[in-house]
Amino acid sequence: MKRVVGVVAAVSLAASMAMADNVVEAVKVKSLKSLKCGAKLVKKHAKFVPVTLYPQSTVHLNDKKANAINKDAKAKVAEVAAFTDGKNVAIIMRWPDKSKDVFKGYKSDIYPDGFAVQFASSADNPKKLPYIGMGSDGRPVEIFLRKAYGQGVYEPNGNGDVAHQVNIHNTNYFGKSLKKFEKEVKKLGVSPYERAFVSEGFRSMTEIKDGSVKYRTDMHYVNKKGGMWGGMVVKPIKDAYSKPSKNELAIAVAAWDGKELQRDGLKRLSSWIAVKLPGASNKALEAVVTEKAKGDAANGKKQFETNCASCHNNRDFHNAPTFMAPDLSNVGGQATAAYLRESILNPNAVIVPGYNRNSHPNFAWYTVDDKGNRTSTMPPFNYLDKKVVEDIVAYLQTQKAEVAK
Ligand code: HEC
Repeated sequence: MKRVVGVVAAVSLAASMAMADNVVEAVKVKSLKSLKCGAKLVKKHAKFVPVTLYPQSTVHLNDKKANAINKDAKAKVAEVAAFTDGKNVAIIMRWPDKSKDVFKGYKSDIYPDGFAVQFASSADNPKKLPYIGMGSDGRPVEIFLRKAYGQGVYEPNGNGDVAHQVNIHNTNYFGKSLKKFEKEVKKLGVSPYERAFVSEGFRSMTEIKDGSVKYRTDMHYVNKKGGMWGGMVVKPIKDAYSKPSKNELAIAVAAWDGKELQRDGLKRLSSWIAVKLPGASNKALEAVVTEKAKGDAANGKKQFETNCASCHNNRDFHNAPTFMAPDLSNVGGQATAAYLRESILNPNAVIVPGYNRNSHPNFAWYTVDDKGNRTSTMPPFNYLDKKVVEDIVAYLQTQKAEVAK
């Protein structure tokens, strides 16, 4: 029998057993304290599973050059693994990236590479997971973001932290408070760019700054296989913002490629991934994240042309006005079949926030009443035949970029 290294309490001997894409088994270890993405433990015992990251195409950035570069962006295959010590979970991802783009200070025009791991606040009802693009109303997500910043990149008030972007001479601080502020600014300048957020949709991101979530990240570039990044997030399985009651974890991962001018919403994003913790059943969640709709995609395409193409563009249809509705060119790579079904039958269940309503007043994706309730401008298609809905879902699942060679 293979000898198991000290920190590993139990490593399944079925390590080579193939798991489905997007289903990750967390390996139990004694401690995650000194874990880094390049650690021996990772090389030896991580059970990496392929996870494809698809270009975000739902909304377009307000940057012509970036949009042109990303117009025909291909998908990338990343690998994701997990470890747990019983209380905390470590998510490790690695993804191909030919160039290492590191932010070296505000005077340069380099956009840094980066990654994020998103945790659904709950996966207890897997058919109603949060919106993959940073959560949705009533279905929050917790997001951990890390960007590649040069070691010791020190700009006064650096790291994009607004609260500290005040010249020291213009603060109201004196004595001890001034010293404390100075210390905080200095720390921001030399610490890695890592942030935690809670979000219910991409215009509602709130940074978690009160220290209530103890987390740690790591990021590491290697020149192997044409260049690849490793990234890691370690956090408690349960914390103030994510409370998996049955120990079932739904996560998603994203990567930004600085060379492609990617930043903010412009990135590559996975679909939901089921992380299996020791003792969790995860059956229902795994079924949702791996479901392939059984409908007839060819008929779904015809139905889409009749019912949907006046508002939505995708890989086959390009006649809808640009800002009218989400571009569905990669929806098959990021949404679950359950989500697509729900979107068709009940658009109000999850309302995609869309463009800035002031810049695109003619293309508001929802209306708001006096009480703040939002109603999607997409009509519910609950009158369609059940089979037709399944055909459309099967067709939508074909909508995704090819994988880059
Ligand atoms: C009148 C315009 C309109 C029509 C017709 C329409 N939609 Fe939509 N759709 C929207 C808008 C606006 C949104 C964004 C607001 C929301 O999430 O409901 C949306 C959202 C969606 C989403 C979620 C997108 C995402 O990024 O997650 C899907 C999936 C979708 N529609 C599919 C369809 C399908 C399939 C049809 C045809 C059966 C259809 N839509 C018909 C306007 C439309």
